[in-house]
Amino acid sequence: MNVVEVDSYNEMSRKASELIVKKIKENTSSVLGLATGGTVIRVYQMLIKDHLVNGTSYREVNTINLDEYVGLGSSDSNSYRYYMNENLFTHLDIPQEQSHLPNGMATNRKEECVKYEELIGELGGVDLQLLGIGENGHIGFNEPGTSFRSKTHVVKLMESTRKANARYFSSLDSVPTHAVTMGIDTIFRSKQILLLASGMKKAAAIDWLLNGEVSEDLPASILKKHNRVTVIADKDALSLSKVSGITFTK
Ligand code: F6R
Repeated sequence: MNVVEVDSYNEMSRKASELIVKKIKENTSSVLGLATGGTVIRVYQMLIKDHLVNGTSYREVNTINLDEYVGLGSSDSNSYRYYMNENLFTHLDIPQEQSHLPNGMATNRKEECVKYEELIGELGGVDLQLLGIGENGHIGFNEPGTSFRSKTHVVKLMESTRKANARYFSSLDSVPTHAVTMGIDTIFRSKQILLLASGMKKAAAIDWLLNGEVSEDLPASILKKHNRVTVIADKDALSLSKVSGITFTK
């Protein structure tokens, strides 16, 4: 695991966006795995700016998002499809049909999960997966205790995760109780992974990730077994960590 310490959220976002742009320049038909949430939003702003200024094209790129809330459709401003359209896709030249998220409105959710796995396979797998991390170490919506062998599945969200995400909703009650998420094995099969963390709230999870055991109690810890992972974290997120035994780049 390559850990890059940066001073600020802005620097984390800049380094991440540069890595993504480099990937697309190397392979114009890359498959990008994407995340939603607060951590990645500046990365998306920087990708949009780069697209406008430098003309990096996404015409041949496919994107695969980690997750979607059950019961929220694309026109719901809290759905992840809406977030991605607003914050990234509509500002790039990516054809809409090449941006993929699980369908939170699917009536047959099990079938939707199987179809999502098949889609990833048909696209040849994810070349670069962008990840945030939950305060409890979740990746995607894979909460502590999720099997490392899990594929795309429906999850019941933990109260702590619903509370953390309630800031985007009018009330805690309106936060969905379930989501469809790529499983941990699905994420692990990505060829390269880029995990971002910013702020004190992530410090405990990052400390466990860097210095703790690989355990299903901390979903992100599986990444220690992957041979191409870069963690970009700011000083606050690294404030509890004594980094040992891993490549550490300033
Ligand atoms: C989002 C996702 C989540 C977030 C994580 C961190 O698609 O899968 O795992 O990456 O909850 O969220 P933020 O960045 O809002 O702190």
